Amino acid sequence: MRVLLTGGAGYIGAHTAVALIDAGHEVLIVDDFSASSAEAVRRIERITGATVPALAADARDEAAVLAFVREHAPVDAVIHFAGLKAVGESMAQPVRYYEVNIGSAVAILRVMAEAGIRTIVFSSSATVYGDPGPEDLPLTETSPTGIDLANPYAKTKRMIEEILHDAAAADPGLRAVTLRYFNPVGAHPSGLIGEDPVGIPNNLMPVLARVAIGALPGVSIYGDDYDTPDGTGLRDYIHVTDLAAGHLASLERAREGYAVFNLGTGKPVSVIQLIEAFRAASGHPIPATVAPRRAGDVTALYANPSKAERELDWTATRTIEQACAEYWHWQERNPDGYRG
Ligand code: NAD
Ligand code: WQD
Repeated sequence: MRVLLTGGAGYIGAHTAVALIDAGHEVLIVDDFSASSAEAVRRIERITGATVPALAADARDEAAVLAFVREHAPVDAVIHFAGLKAVGESMAQPVRYYEVNIGSAVAILRVMAEAGIRTIVFSSSATVYGDPGPEDLPLTETSPTGIDLANPYAKTKRMIEEILHDAAAADPGLRAVTLRYFNPVGAHPSGLIGEDPVGIPNNLMPVLARVAIGALPGVSIYGDDYDTPDGTGLRDYIHVTDLAAGHLASLERAREGYAVFNLGTGKPVSVIQLIEAFRAASGHPIPATVAPRRAGDVTALYANPSKAERELDWTATRTIEQACAEYWHWQERNPDGYRG
């Protein structure tokens, strides 16, 4: 299969590119490099030995993307990773988030129609489940979504899911797959590709890695008074290599129509457990202090991944210990990310 990855130079896109190429597929990338670097494409090529054509363009630039797709025809499928993903920023700049996230998804569907591409896999997020009650955990694909979503980022994901649902309903030959990722962590074992956040990171694992490398003084634990075993928030941290394999399985097994899958491990892990795992993996003490709860955070979010197991023959197999060790390997080899 020849697959176009929008946002393919980003964290999840780069790991998926490697997984697809390792499985014998060909990859093309469209990325505006607003949150990544062309160096990521060179690293994908180094790991795989493949040549990866990459277009530096906004995914909303339909003419440029269509010309690129035609130049590399036939393209069999698109995985649409491109978009803005910072929750806090989306509250400050909602219109920009709607413009970029919705605009790029619509543009890609239009390019697909023009070029006759019949399969799309979309990067959605467990954030569409909002703030689930204990009775909804672990979350299945039919758990409630879209009720009182707390931020525009989450709303863009939910809206794009609806767009794909409607596009598939109107065009029975289309295969549209929504993947709801839980919390991606880890890095490729080579240490050549990994997460390279712009500015000071917000997410827990990149913060831990920045503390361990000495770039941040310590980690704040956002609340230890949640109704959980150790009082800290519970999440489903999924290794990015497992996530990448989920994309491969989705492409290879996509059926006509619209389908949604949770990609998670099903195992809740607390903030304190993740900090301890990262301390052990890095050998650094990682000072941690309890701080107030972060606005918008939920108590617990973890998957029931059995639909993906059943229908995609996919299971997350990697542990948080492995994710911490491989994230740390990437961080140590690339203390300044791709800029180093
Ligand atoms: P990332 O920021 O590393 O990757 C996104 C890539 O898209 C970057 O390379 C960026 O340069 C590119 N991009 C952004 N806007 C673009 C545009 N208009 N045109 C072309 N390229 C553009 O993020 P990631 O963690 O790899 O996330 C990939 C996708 O998965 C995103 O859609 C994100 O919302 C979603 N997702 C991420 C997480 C997470 O925690 N990392 C969780 C759930 C869902
Ligand atoms: C995990 C846990 C924090 C940082 C976000 C987005 C979500 C998805 C993934 C894209 C929580 C705690 C964190 C810190 C802490 N992204 N924490 N100190 O909030 O589950 O999900 O990223 O779709 O949409 O909302 O991830 O890594 O920020 O937080 O105590 O410095 O770690 O309170 O319990 P989150 P996270």
